[in-house]
Amino acid sequence: MKTLISTAVASLCCVALYSCASIDNAEHYATTGEKLYAENCYGCHREATTLDEPKEFIHKTIHYGGKIMPSFEESLSEAEHQQIIDYILKQR
Ligand code: HEC
Repeated sequence: MKTLISTAVASLCCVALYSCASIDNAEHYATTGEKLYAENCYGCHREATTLDEPKEFIHKTIHYGGKIMPSFEESLSEAEHQQIIDYILKQR
């Protein structure tokens, strides 16, 4: 019985630690733009410094996509487009 209780306590601790880790992860991003970039763009483009096109061009590309790049017209709001662009421009 004692073992069962300590196992239960140990599992609870793991769950608590795990949730703290996820919260830390969310706070790892300084801005929403950085988080959105990490979630939507980093997988293909890696560091935002690789994107050195003018602001308007980046906006158009996010909105309409490219030959291979998907369009974010449906999945990202206008405000989110702007937050990502601000983040990319700040990396220059
Ligand atoms: C599935 C992979 C993929 C994702 C996700 C993606 N891109 Fe792209 N992106 C590409 C490819 C490939 C190109 C080259 C044009 C083409 O053939 O589509 C490109 C082109 C671009 C360009 C034009 C400059 C260039 O390098 O050709 C910009 C700017 C850009 N992407 C920004 C973004 C941003 C910002 C996001 C996130 C909202 C994003 N991309 C998400 C694959 C991706």
